[in-house]
Amino acid sequence: MAQKDLTFSVARNENPKSVEQREAVLANPGFGNHFTDHMVDICWSEHGGWHRPRVQPYGPIPMDPAAAVLHYAQEIFEGLKAYRHADGSIWSFRPEANAARMQRSARRLALPELPTEYFLESLKQIIAVDADWVPSGGETSLYLRPFMFAKEAFLGVRPAAKVAYYVIASPAGAYFSGGVTPVSIWLSETHSRAGVGGTGAAKTGGNYASSLIAQAEAYENGCDQVLFLDSVEHKYVEELGGMNVVLVYKNGTIVTPKSDSILEGVTRESLLQLAADRGLTVEHRPVTMDEWREGVESGEITEMFACGTAAIVTPIAQVKGANFTIGSADAPAGELTMSLRKELTDIQYGRIADPHGWMMRL
Ligand code: COI
Repeated sequence: MAQKDLTFSVARNENPKSVEQREAVLANPGFGNHFTDHMVDICWSEHGGWHRPRVQPYGPIPMDPAAAVLHYAQEIFEGLKAYRHADGSIWSFRPEANAARMQRSARRLALPELPTEYFLESLKQIIAVDADWVPSGGETSLYLRPFMFAKEAFLGVRPAAKVAYYVIASPAGAYFSGGVTPVSIWLSETHSRAGVGGTGAAKTGGNYASSLIAQAEAYENGCDQVLFLDSVEHKYVEELGGMNVVLVYKNGTIVTPKSDSILEGVTRESLLQLAADRGLTVEHRPVTMDEWREGVESGEITEMFACGTAAIVTPIAQVKGANFTIGSADAPAGELTMSLRKELTDIQYGRIADPHGWMMRL
């Protein structure tokens, strides 16, 4: 595959948002509602490899109605954040891990692998033009959303010979409207997110599309997120609609479900590393719903939380199903949960040392 040079052409947005408009967004960004003035894109074709890297004004993407992604969902994405430190500098957290995961997702979806240096450079390019959009204060950040899709206009079912990679950016506050308040989880007893040998471990839109009906059920039942079990036995805990799950045992052991059909979360692995650094035992292993329920009821499981780039660490107060409740709606956030959360965010915002060299200046 031919690799061209990495010089991005830059077409500045002639009509950017005004300073007042931008400040209004940054004062209360929410999650995923607002976008910066620019986007980055790189083309790929079977014969030309990656080419034409550019920065251009944020706006609609011209697309042929026959573009394969619109029909067969050949698409992947990533999520990571840019953090503003007290001295004004802008940093990302373990972007190489996102680059590597995007390459794994690409292999599963028969898309081309974007080289790590292209991925990292694409992040630097968007920050170079939209640095003013990185908020400061509280737990705000600029959420970066790299994505790749099949652009070729062709209705046969085969990997597309033309693909596009983009990065857009969105100022972000808390993912859940309640902030760090413990959330309620709904166990989907009728729907699965992903099957054995399927695309569950890839970050592809289809996994999120298949979660929506169950997520709607969660909302109807007063819950914030949906929890999925394995698709074969409906017994093993997998993950939530958009984040991983971690359980804390009374003896300090931290357990997270292991399965080939869940997404390997960068945030999750980082939190588990921080826990291991404290000398705690960390286990990646299959976890049944019965173990979870009995553990909470007997007091063996003392804390539970959800984690992901968007959610950071969000304590789980209770898990509800059609005929049961584990925990209670007013359960407070766990002590270890909040202390790991603080350590992670202190590293991300440059408030403490970064012993693993996770931060990369953008
Ligand atoms: C993320 O945490 O970055 C995700 O992609 C999950 C999504 C629910 C926002």
